[in-house]
Amino acid sequence: MAPVEAPAAQAVNVPLPMAAHFIVLNITPGDEAEDTVKAFFGNTAALIRSVERRIPEEQLSMVVGIGSPAWDRLFGAPRPAGLHEFQPLRGDKHFAPSTPGDLLLHIRAKSERMCFEMAMQCMNALGDAVVAVDEVHGFRYFEARAMIGFVDGVENPDGQDALASTLVGDEDPRFKEGSYVIVQKYLHDMKAWNATATDEQERVIGRSKQGNIEMAEDVKPTNSHSSLNVIEDAEGNQLSIVRANLPFANAARNEYGTYFIGYARDPAITEQMLINMFIGRPPGNYDRLLDFSTAVTGTLFFVPSATLLAALGDGNPFAPGAAPASGSVPTAPVAAPVSSGTLPIGSLKGQPQWSQAPSASGPAPDASN
Ligand code: HEM
Repeated sequence: MAPVEAPAAQAVNVPLPMAAHFIVLNITPGDEAEDTVKAFFGNTAALIRSVERRIPEEQLSMVVGIGSPAWDRLFGAPRPAGLHEFQPLRGDKHFAPSTPGDLLLHIRAKSERMCFEMAMQCMNALGDAVVAVDEVHGFRYFEARAMIGFVDGVENPDGQDALASTLVGDEDPRFKEGSYVIVQKYLHDMKAWNATATDEQERVIGRSKQGNIEMAEDVKPTNSHSSLNVIEDAEGNQLSIVRANLPFANAARNEYGTYFIGYARDPAITEQMLINMFIGRPPGNYDRLLDFSTAVTGTLFFVPSATLLAALGDGNPFAPGAAPASGSVPTAPVAAPVSSGTLPIGSLKGQPQWSQAPSASGPAPDASN
């Protein structure tokens, strides 16, 4: 196994942004496209730094995810243990489709302009090697409320708990500090939702709307969104993911939605939540939020550590016979905590500026998220 030591995570855990671009791409056929995408991975950290440094206070960050078919095509074995295509879910009433996606770019910043600049630079770099599948621009609504008017992200773990919930550990050592992300674009029937009385909406979510207080267990309906998304392991420990959802809208087209994006150390946790929502717990007792929300996309990606992402520029460093790729696999990483936002990456192929101390793929995690 080639030495990828002390990997540092991508900017999975960052403060709640004001804006985000969620971009899903497919890789076009041919070797040239594959080479371009690999070169993009090798250069991602430098590209982020180039844009981020222009206005650091904008807290630009970007996470790059790789879909299962794309991983096989570009890198083959070995592969991240939990990486597979998103499985569609058909409940009695609601359906969660699985839709294609080779690459995910999750760009976050304090302003739309930074997201745009980062997206444009990525697309310039990727060129004809990719085709767009979907692009959604999310914004932080008042008081971090979802499109449906309830504060979103409240029960997210934070600090060390967020890192432990989202980053792969020793269970898959080659892919340590990686993460799994599931995205789903939901469209809301706002007419029906707005016609629903507030106390009924509160029973749908399981919290009060104005004050954002969780309902007592004995009054919270079992088909409320928050009931069905509380899951535990066999020992009774709660299993968490970190959600970075944002609302999006195109008012003239009467399109109002939530872009769900959930990071997890193990995608099975998010998948269990989705089973509870769509199939129901017990089956049939599905999430009432779905009566007002339709999932129109669904894709799963692996998010390599920033260190591995850079190394992937030279191919799979763990492949049998892969030579330790000089210049792209760090052998003497800087000892920086994952949460510092500093990427301990050595030099990158074609990026000699990385011999200077790299700064950021994003800001440090924040308890407010
Ligand atoms: C229609 C899209 C969605 C909307 C508008 C939405 C909105 C919300 C809101 C308002 C809350 C309560 C406050 C909070 O803790 O964040 C919540 C909680 C939560 N949601 Fe969602 N959500 C959506 C989809 C999903 C999906 C697809 C999942 C999982 C796959 C999910 C997982 C969770 C979890 C784990 C909680 C916290 C439950 C708790 O600990 O009380 N949500 N969501």
